[in-house]
Amino acid sequence: MIPLGISSMFLGTYLGCAENALAATSGIGQPIASSLPWYIARSAGITAYILMFCIIALGETMTTGSVYALITPVKAWTMHKYLGIAFGIMLLVHMFSLLFDTFMNFSVANILIPFSSSYSPVFLSMGIFGFYIVLAVLLSSLLVRLRFPSFWRYIHYLVYPLFVLGFFHGVFLGTDTTTLAMQIVYAFTGMGFILLMLHRWRFSQLRA
Ligand code: HEM
Repeated sequence: MIPLGISSMFLGTYLGCAENALAATSGIGQPIASSLPWYIARSAGITAYILMFCIIALGETMTTGSVYALITPVKAWTMHKYLGIAFGIMLLVHMFSLLFDTFMNFSVANILIPFSSSYSPVFLSMGIFGFYIVLAVLLSSLLVRLRFPSFWRYIHYLVYPLFVLGFFHGVFLGTDTTTLAMQIVYAFTGMGFILLMLHRWRFSQLRA
């Protein structure tokens, strides 16, 4: 419940800011309804991206054991699971709210089939490939983790390319990349990801 609450808080804060900005530029009382799906898609995309980074950071530090200096294994595992569910929900909101945006006019095929849209096809498709990785990771975790642990682990390693796809998708497609807040988010998470990779690599070297 807490991860879902945090996700809604992010979403709510962003939408509140968007509404104020719109009121300031277009006059109080102007309807925001026509742009609402677009704001929801963007705020859910940013929330999903931040959740994705948190889950990867938590998962990596669970594997290396460093997070257990701060929280117990049960708490870490529970947080990992619920953050994963919140991430999945935010990603679905991010994608499917686009279908209600009358300006961009995305079809179901455009949001599910890579390169089917003319809107920045490469960076949009990175997000779509990311969605299929998320689907594989979530389904394998729910269905085959206990029966085929090594298969599940290989699928789980796909979260590392997932971050790279999500990063380039957000940076190069996002309207909000021009804001200082998002530039700080991308710089912090991008550098954080590189440090996590180095930490993971050192851990596997020590164990070899
Ligand atoms: C791992 C999966 C994904 C993550 C982490 C993610 C995250 C993001 C982020 C952070 C942004 C920038 C938002 C902004 O600056 O306002 C964004 C933009 C966007 N995403 Fe995704 N996304 C993912 C998958 C998808 C998928 C599957 C679609 C389906 C079509 C999609 C469609 C879009 C579109 C159209 C934009 C542009 C919005 C804008 O111009 O601001 N994304 N995404």
